[in-house]
Amino acid sequence: MNTLTKVGLIGLGRMGRFYLEEMQKSGRWDVAYICDKSPGIRELARKLSPTSKIIDNEDEIFNDETVQVVGLFALADSRKQQIERAVKCNKHIISEKPISDTIINEWEAVYISERTNLFSTVNLYLRNSWYHNLIKDFIASGEIGELAIIRVCHLTPGLAPGEGHEYEGPSFHDCGMHYVDIARWYTGSEFKTWHAQGVRMWNYKDPWFLQCHGTFENGVVFDITQGHVYGHLSKNQTHNSYIDIIGTKGIARMTHDFKTAVVELHGVNQTIRQERPFGGKNIDVLCNLFADSIESGVRSNKLPTLRDSAIASEYAWRFLENSTANELPAIGEIKTLEKIIERRRNMKNGYGLLQPQ
Ligand SMILES: NC(=O)c1ccc[n+]([C@@H]2O[C@H](COP(=O)([O-])OP(=O)(O)OC[C@H]3O[C@@H](n4cnc5c(N)ncnc54)[C@H](O)[C@@H]3O)[C@@H](O)[C@H]2O)c1
Repeated sequence: MNTLTKVGLIGLGRMGRFYLEEMQKSGRWDVAYICDKSPGIRELARKLSPTSKIIDNEDEIFNDETVQVVGLFALADSRKQQIERAVKCNKHIISEKPISDTIINEWEAVYISERTNLFSTVNLYLRNSWYHNLIKDFIASGEIGELAIIRVCHLTPGLAPGEGHEYEGPSFHDCGMHYVDIARWYTGSEFKTWHAQGVRMWNYKDPWFLQCHGTFENGVVFDITQGHVYGHLSKNQTHNSYIDIIGTKGIARMTHDFKTAVVELHGVNQTIRQERPFGGKNIDVLCNLFADSIESGVRSNKLPTLRDSAIASEYAWRFLENSTANELPAIGEIKTLEKIIERRRNMKNGYGLLQPQ
């Protein structure tokens, strides 16, 4: 009996290729279709997955009754309509984030997905990481006392404005919504108050660095710092990424270099240091949880929901909007940004490089 889960992938850019690779590795998926609107990417798809049908129009995926799951890995502007179609055509959904390009559309997508028994999830990848789960379990064990403060920082020379992802919004939305989400995941509470400070780096119209601090309904205090502004033109690029969690009695923290993550736990009884491979976007974890759900008929409650994504996205937008009321200075010149884009275009190995079309 064929137990492979039959899936159609839409969008084979940087993220789509991660899914294809993990699905091929796992041996649990039959990647029946790959759809991409770019001819160059379709050519690449034929090489990467010779057994898949490579198409430029998603209709065939939705019309094929044997396809069980659709993977929505194109950009945010196409996602809501694809979620709607998937539900109409009786297909489970693995979606990239954000689940659409406006808050209204995201909430519509949530309601559509919640009115069916079909499974859906979204790639809020930090929730599937070993390091955040280890820290969360340590907090739950009482080792740091009461959770009081969450500090998250993610600064890299990543995606610059104007390079792509326009529907995904500025850096704090496109990438920052992950950190908004993970802060909420740790507290299990909703955002209550906030104040955001941004900078319009290189005189670009939107802030590409933002720091927001505030409180949750349960009193936990947060600060989130995110920016793809961290030394784009430095000879040797680097980044600064960490989480720092403070309880009434102890602390838990993590930092990584995108290869290895290091967790340090300082509890009242235990001091633990763990160093393990970073795990990238943890797409293997997501795909396995989803395949388990399809096989068992029971949706894994470890899978992030479309609702989680809509909430994180909405608050990332709110924090950005708040920053516009707080001075929002412009520093630098557009010609520096042009140099950054030129450098990234010619880089083979850089932070968050998009798939060349
Ligand atoms: N979860 C994460 O950590 C994470 C990280 C990066 C990107 N993303 C999200 O993943 C999505 C894809 O990002 P990416 O970096 O792979 O972008 P990308 O530009 O590399 O790839 C997008 C691909 O989709 C194709 N495409 C666009 N519209 C299409 C359509 N209507 N039908 C078929 N193909 C279409 C493009 O030709 C391109 O090949 C974005 O929405 C982004 O926000 C998520």
